[in-house]
This record gives sequence, structure tokens and C-alpha cells, in this order.
Amino acid sequence: MSTPTPADKFSFGLWTIGWSGRDPFGEATRPALDVVEAVHKLAEHGAWGMSFHDDDLFDSTNRDQQVGRLQTALKETGLTIPMVTTNLFSHPVFKDGGFTSNDRSVRRYALQKVLRNVELAAELGAQTYVLWGGREGSEYDTAKDVRAALDRYREGLNLLTQFVTDRGYDIRFAIEPKPNEPRGDILLPTIGHALAFITSLDRPDLVGLNPEVGHEQMAGLNFVHGIAQALWHGKLFHIDLNGQRSIKYDQDLVFGHGDLMNAFALVDLLETAGYEGPRHFDYKPSRTEDFTGVWDSVKANMQTYLLLKERAAAFRADPEVQEALVTAGVADLAQPTLTDGEGYDDLLAESFDPDQLAQRGYGFVRLNQLALEHLAGAR
Ligand code: GCO
Ligand code: MN
Ligand code: MN
Ligand code: MN
Repeated sequence: MSTPTPADKFSFGLWTIGWSGRDPFGEATRPALDVVEAVHKLAEHGAWGMSFHDDDLFDSTNRDQQVGRLQTALKETGLTIPMVTTNLFSHPVFKDGGFTSNDRSVRRYALQKVLRNVELAAELGAQTYVLWGGREGSEYDTAKDVRAALDRYREGLNLLTQFVTDRGYDIRFAIEPKPNEPRGDILLPTIGHALAFITSLDRPDLVGLNPEVGHEQMAGLNFVHGIAQALWHGKLFHIDLNGQRSIKYDQDLVFGHGDLMNAFALVDLLETAGYEGPRHFDYKPSRTEDFTGVWDSVKANMQTYLLLKERAAAFRADPEVQEALVTAGVADLAQPTLTDGEGYDDLLAESFDPDQLAQRGYGFVRLNQLALEHLAGAR
């Protein structure tokens, strides 16, 4: 198996390895993890970057000191900060949301909290600023005017793109969709909702997506299809890799520990479609784990990605696969449906025999089995 190196662009949220295991039913199962140790351990394991929320790193009493400690650790290790984000969900003030709280003063405070942390992100050289609106939403349809909430969401995004433009920061924003949890229903619940919303902004060029594997799967959606469409729109600014097993609470498992076939197709897509952004893991080391288990889970995420990358390349190189791809007509879909110069008149004049066209078998099952055999190491 190959060893992760910074060239693989693997990054981890400080809140992932730093999660102490507190859940709605039980207390923490692990002590806190200090940021300096986090940076050193990630670098030792071959990671390239670390991301964080403001609240992961400091509180109102120790900001400068903690930022200084982080900067020293980065210098010592060469680790980078490719992405920064804001905690607009833990403090009780955000119980009805940040940018879309019904309370105007809360909305103003939320925007100020983001602006201050964008300044820090710029100082640390981050190029992506993630916006996960976990508390933007509602439990009750009578309690939230969704159209007004979207107006306020847009107002917030427009202010932020104005800010980075005026300041000359090299930062783009990435919206992270999620259908529910912690709110009963969250605004911009899927990749598709967020893509449509972005077209309504003042600076759509500065806003893209940070889709998370489990979040689309919580909505029963095909993550690979969602990522393909985000790439097609030029909106895959960042990605949160993890694992999820079907429609249930947000599991945040290690990458590949959910729908493995979909993860295989995802890595194949990312590696062949020219995605150059971070391979960012946003997962939770299960609360059954001690710190040995935490670092094992860090290794597991990266190993799984590299393994799938290797397996996907072997799949593509296999002559039997290439032949099955021809039978399946996969490359034929790249050919425009009409020939140059043709129009609807030509189609109207043509005669088709649908019964005869229906005779074709596509061989998709054989192709998928070949993928499974490569994935399972049987080829
Ligand atoms: C989740 C989300 C969060 C966000 C992160 C960035 O699991 O619900 O992934 O972890 O990604 O907090 O703001
Ligand atoms: Mn999640
Ligand atoms: Mn995430
Ligand atoms: Mn998470």
C-alpha cells in the first residue's frame, strides 16, 4: 500500500480528530486534543493540511496566543491551512440560526463572527472559506418564512463576497449542504438546492460548494452524481469525504466505511475529472476509540483513498474493462446527438425502428461486476 504524502493533498478538520465523543446521549469518552499536537501528528502521518472553526482553536480570552501557537506548529511541520470555517451552531445564541435567525441582532452578530474569522483565514493563507449552515432552518413550517430566510442568506453571502473583494483576499466561499441535523430541516439541503441559490448572488464566481459524502446520502441521493454535476458547473471548490450507511442520522464514518462502491466511483471521478482541491476528511473517530484509535482512523481515511485510487486506475487499465466499456457505450455518450449542421427538420424526417433499437443489451451488470472484482482485489 502506498504511503500518504503532502502531494496527495489530504487535509483534516481539527474538530474531527479533536472530537471528544460527546453525543446527545453520552459524555465525552476522550480528553481534549491540543492543536499543536494535532498539527504535529497530522504532519507525521503524511497529511498536507488542517482546517478549523474559530471555536475549535480559541475563545474570547486566548485568540492571539492560540493563533500564535498554531502558526509556530505550522512552521515547524510545513502543514498548511487550506480551509477555514465558522462555528455558527454551538452557542445557544444560534439556536434559530446565524444568517437566517428570525432575530436581526443575532444575524448581525453571526456575520461579524464570520467576517472576523475570514480575516484570520486570509492571514493563514486559506483559499477556501466553508459555510455550513447547520442551524439555518426550522423544525416547524409556521415558524420560518423560507423566502425571507433565503433573502437574508443571500444578503449575508453578498456581504462576504464584497468583503473579500474590497480587501483583496484570495478566498472563495463554499456552501456545505445538509438536509437535516441539528435542525429538523436545513436550508440549502442538497447540492442541487445550493447550486440554484448561488446563481442568485452578486458574485456567483466567488461561491461554490463543499459537498459532504454522508449529507447527500442522508437524503438518499447518489453522491457521485452530485459531485459530477458540481464539477460540470465548475462549483466543486472543496469536498468533505466520509462514510454513511443509508438514510439515518449523520454518521460521519471513516471514508469508505459506508457505501464502498460509491466511494470507488467517487475517487475514480475526482482523479480523472481534474479536481485539484483538497481531499478533506470530515468524519468522527467513533467514541469507542482511544487516541490510538483516533490516529488509526486518520490513517484509515488516507489509506482508503489511496487504495481506491490505485484500484480505480487498475480498473481503467484492464483490457477486459475497456472492452466492457465499449459494449456499454459509455464513451459514445460524449458524441453530440445531432451532427454538425443538422436540426430538428432532419430528425423529423428520419425513420426509427424502436423495437429494433430496443434489442440492444448494454452489459452494465458485467461492467459493474468487473469494478467490484477490482475493488475487492480479485483482479
Ligand atoms: C456535519 C458537518 C460539519 C461541518 C463542519 C464545517 O457533519 O454536519 O460536516 O462537520 O462540515 O462543521 O462547518
Ligand atoms: Mn456530516
Ligand atoms: Mn462537513
Ligand atoms: Mn461532521
